Amino acid sequence: MRTPAPLGSLGFEKLVNAVVDYAIYMLDPDGHVVTWNSGAKRIKNYDAAEIIGQHYSRFYIPEDIARGLPVAALEAAREIGRYEAEGWRVRKDGTRFWASVVIDAVRDDQGQVVGFAKVTRDITERRDAQLQMEQSREQLFQAQKMEALGQLTGGVAHDFNNLLTAILGAAELARRAAGDNPRLMTLLNGIAASARRGSVVTQQLLDFARQQPLEPEEIDLTQRMGPIAALLRHSLRGDIALVTEVQTNLWPVEVDPGQLELALLNVALNARDAMPQGGNLRIAANNVSLNREVEGLAGEFVALSITDTGPGIPQEILPRVFDAFFTTKDQGRGTGLGLCQVHRFAKHSSGAVTARSPPGEGATITLYLPARRPQLGIEQKAAEDESRLRILVVEDDMLVAEYAAELLQEMGYATRVVHNAGEALAALEREPRFDLVFSDIVMPGGLNGFELARKIGDLHPELPILLTSGYNDNTTARASALHIVPKPYRFDDLQAALSQLLEFRRA
Ligand SMILES: Nc1ncnc2c1ncn2[C@@H]1O[C@H](COP(=O)(O)OP(=O)(O)OP(=O)(O)O)[C@@H](O)[C@H]1O
Ligand SMILES: [Mg+2]
Repeated sequence: MRTPAPLGSLGFEKLVNAVVDYAIYMLDPDGHVVTWNSGAKRIKNYDAAEIIGQHYSRFYIPEDIARGLPVAALEAAREIGRYEAEGWRVRKDGTRFWASVVIDAVRDDQGQVVGFAKVTRDITERRDAQLQMEQSREQLFQAQKMEALGQLTGGVAHDFNNLLTAILGAAELARRAAGDNPRLMTLLNGIAASARRGSVVTQQLLDFARQQPLEPEEIDLTQRMGPIAALLRHSLRGDIALVTEVQTNLWPVEVDPGQLELALLNVALNARDAMPQGGNLRIAANNVSLNREVEGLAGEFVALSITDTGPGIPQEILPRVFDAFFTTKDQGRGTGLGLCQVHRFAKHSSGAVTARSPPGEGATITLYLPARRPQLGIEQKAAEDESRLRILVVEDDMLVAEYAAELLQEMGYATRVVHNAGEALAALEREPRFDLVFSDIVMPGGLNGFELARKIGDLHPELPILLTSGYNDNTTARASALHIVPKPYRFDDLQAALSQLLEFRRA
């Protein structure tokens, strides 16, 4: 049997040099680099020729150099024989890596320190993996906590609901027995009102704990709006005026009606709280086609928005109003679950909710609920067309014309598109039944929008005209008492302008 040849010093150097995963090098007693292996080159990027003779502190980050760490490390190794640590180090190109470092003091036969052996490993990846694991453990812990909180909340809310049912029932019976004792009646009414408020809160808690499954059904908001408004009016004070503006022919939406009522109630109660001196609450409902403008939603939706005339929501808290338990109200006055319910309802219904509060304009909460656009049969469509108000669109730009026609159809109008004033006058001549002319102002060649409007005013004085322009030319408009929507127009603005002009035609 052959015994392996003993490793001479040359063989040892070869071995050290062959190691690429560890930086292995020697320092002199003051910390200058004396030898350099291929691992050191790979990890720290320096060639042996450029680093030998340099002080090893250049591998440290400036903060550690300022703390005197390189010197302290050598001191420690000299005192105890070995120094071990993990920390940030710097490569030649300035990038940092997380290093595991061992420094051993090397002594001669008399025990004198003649230098240091230094071994460094790049463990950045390992550290990243570890941090990631800690992070996911933290997330899991959070999720478990929320789950436990949810279960607890659900349990408490459930028991509480039973108690409230008993209180409400007893108050009801007592009211019947109270006869005509007005003082007692007032007290009992107070008890019943508080219990009802309590059950709204428990509803929210149950929803938060996800113990209330949604039961979606197809509903026609045009029909539902009356009862919903009545419910809201009931919950508001007398000094708050409720106005509803619901577009006719709203598309049917698929939602849980109970949750929808609760959501609207939550929004309305917030508005009430925001208007202690009274004010207006406006509920508007419109069909909208979205193409990812709102929270990435695409398709057909009904936008249901509630606007108040309170002080609005401060910009800095706007991003947090939908968070669970976020409230700015005094203890006992708000749980911070109202808008959280609205948000969850919207999400679970595959829709979205937004909060806007332009300075000085109160707050607007808008629910986007997924809708089904009814497919009309050909005959039905013709009949629909017949009954719809007809708008003559005058626009020289083909693309804009197409867009305008689409918007108007979306709003329920029938349209006829022409591309200049001449064509417009001809159409008015030949096709008598138009309810409104919607014209661009700037049109090359022939009459412009103002001139067309004047001409139409002479020929068909009863026909309303709405002009549009990309130029902000309000003075002319005011002088001529014409109605103008600026370009680019938004669905809402155009719709508002049209319904104002067409009001008397519908009647
Ligand atoms: N219309 C509004 N005007 C001004 N601030 C509002 C309005 N709506 C909501 N906020 C702000 O958003 C916060 C969160 O509303 P949210 O309905 O979630 O909870 P809350 O009303 O405080 O309590 P809860 O509804 O559970 O009784 C409110 O505390 C308030 O600061
Ligand atoms: Mg609220």
